[in-house]
Amino acid sequence: MSLWSKHAIFEKNSIVLSIGVLVVIAIGGLVEITPLFYLKSTIEKVDGVRPYTPLELAGRNIYVREGCYNCHSQMIRPLRDEVERYGHYSLAAESMYDRPFQWGSKRTGPDLARVGGKYSDEWHRDHLRQPKSVVPGTVMPAYPWLAETELGAAHIADDLKVQAALGVPYTLEMIANAATDARAQATTDSPSAGDLIKRYPNAQVRDYDGNPDRISEADALIAYLQMLGTQVDFKLYNDKANIR
Ligand code: HEC
Repeated sequence: MSLWSKHAIFEKNSIVLSIGVLVVIAIGGLVEITPLFYLKSTIEKVDGVRPYTPLELAGRNIYVREGCYNCHSQMIRPLRDEVERYGHYSLAAESMYDRPFQWGSKRTGPDLARVGGKYSDEWHRDHLRQPKSVVPGTVMPAYPWLAETELGAAHIADDLKVQAALGVPYTLEMIANAATDARAQATTDSPSAGDLIKRYPNAQVRDYDGNPDRISEADALIAYLQMLGTQVDFKLYNDKANIR
């Protein structure tokens, strides 16, 4: 019996074949997975990426609650057409504090990974209240209650605590000041803005929803949308990335 005819053992016995398949897949798996345990991090460090401010995090929770991810991705692939339309492709570090991540899997609407700064707050306000008022042909649903609903501040500190437990570097000071920071960020000329920016560099502070009497869910969601994709200064990275 030659060596090659021995594999008849596998072909004639399904249990032996199954065990053989498992052994081969296990070897392949180990080859792929083991090196990752020897890397300190699979995320390349990038300057400028910071955890979300309490207001942005609250906005992100509303984004998840309303299911915006069903129609919008937040992940620009390194393909020419995507980069020309949306900007620099997404870096792993840009979603390192996203728990859960919002990469999405479907684009009924455009990718939002770099929508920050693309439109004015007023545009977002009108668009969320009634998308057809600014984009007549859109199929995006209206979210008129966001501007009318007060932002629930009761859980903001707890939200930060949960994120901290998952590994986001929120300090005790950040958690203790979460509700104050959320209010400060949604108020134009807030006296606490300085403290907020010390804790969260480059945080944008203003009355996002245009209603100074109330911190609304629209304040939080627009604050979140306006910071998406704005943390990394790509002028510093363009040489390295060699794209655009
Ligand atoms: C049924 C699918 C759908 C859902 C759900 C949806 N959108 Fe959209 N969105 C669209 C479409 C289509 C467009 C493109 C036309 C337009 O601007 O309205 C769009 C556009 C946008 C834009 C402008 C993007 C750009 O670069 O022009 C933003 C910002 C946005 N959506 C935010 C949201 C947010 C926030 C939510 C959740 C509260 C949401 N969308 C939910 C379909 C959706």
